[in-house]
Amino acid sequence: MSTDPVHRQPNESLNQLPFENRHSPSNGLLISFEGIDGCGKSTQIALLKEALQTQGIPVQVFREPGGTSVSETIRSILLDPENELNPVTEVLLFSSARSQLVTESILPALYRGEVVILDRFYDSTTAYQGYGHQILSPKALESIHRLAAHGLEPTLTFYLKLTLSVALERTAKLEKDRMESMGDSFFQRVIEGYNQLSMQEKRFVTLDANREIMEIHREILQSVHPRISSLNSAD
Ligand code: ADP
Ligand code: TYD
Repeated sequence: MSTDPVHRQPNESLNQLPFENRHSPSNGLLISFEGIDGCGKSTQIALLKEALQTQGIPVQVFREPGGTSVSETIRSILLDPENELNPVTEVLLFSSARSQLVTESILPALYRGEVVILDRFYDSTTAYQGYGHQILSPKALESIHRLAAHGLEPTLTFYLKLTLSVALERTAKLEKDRMESMGDSFFQRVIEGYNQLSMQEKRFVTLDANREIMEIHREILQSVHPRISSLNSAD
């Protein structure tokens, strides 16, 4: 018998079928962070989480790919430099990890009225697989995203915009995983993908990530605070 509590908790959203769901919970708030590796997502997410918790607001943070036992297993396949993955396999694995995270963890948290902060969501697939690998058009990826995210869309997406050279300086000393080992031209296309998304998507808040950490944090708080007040008044 499994001793992992995740497998013993009844979770109705896990059993829902795709396309039955067009989830847009009116309670809760979904915020995602995007940008190339080393742009400062983890740093800003930790600061935002702490700021919200200090105000007594329940917050959950999940990273993609990952965040559930199944999704973390998929993550290890995706990021293992030993694995040679076909790009379509790659899209489907990122999407599978996402579907599990949405149904197992994100939706229940949103229905409880919590703030959910995501370290990457489907915009990463558009930027890395769509623009980076150029295997599927952003349009073709949209239907995969709708399926994998069960219709969920972030209310706010913070795009930490950084040049490749600065990002590489910041991550120079770290060991590179399979995705981080792609070449410079791949990452230039990823940046181009994010720049396109930032022009197309109203939920995108583009931040110059080459500034002081607390300055960026203050700008993030300014965008989040009005959403938090409406979260409270919805009760
Ligand atoms: P990500 O999660 O996007 O990969 P991190 O938050 O882990 O990025 O940041 C990568 C590195 O850059 C870390 O060493 C972090 O301390 C540093 N860093 C983050 N934000 C800034 C910033 N605004 N200026 C300078 N260094 C930063
Ligand atoms: P991670 O260590 O979480 O990187 P970071 O701290 O920069 O977020 O590794 C996730 C890697 O997977 C990262 O290089 C981006 C990539 N990725 C995709 O290519 N497609 C996706 O859909 C997602 C979610 C991530």
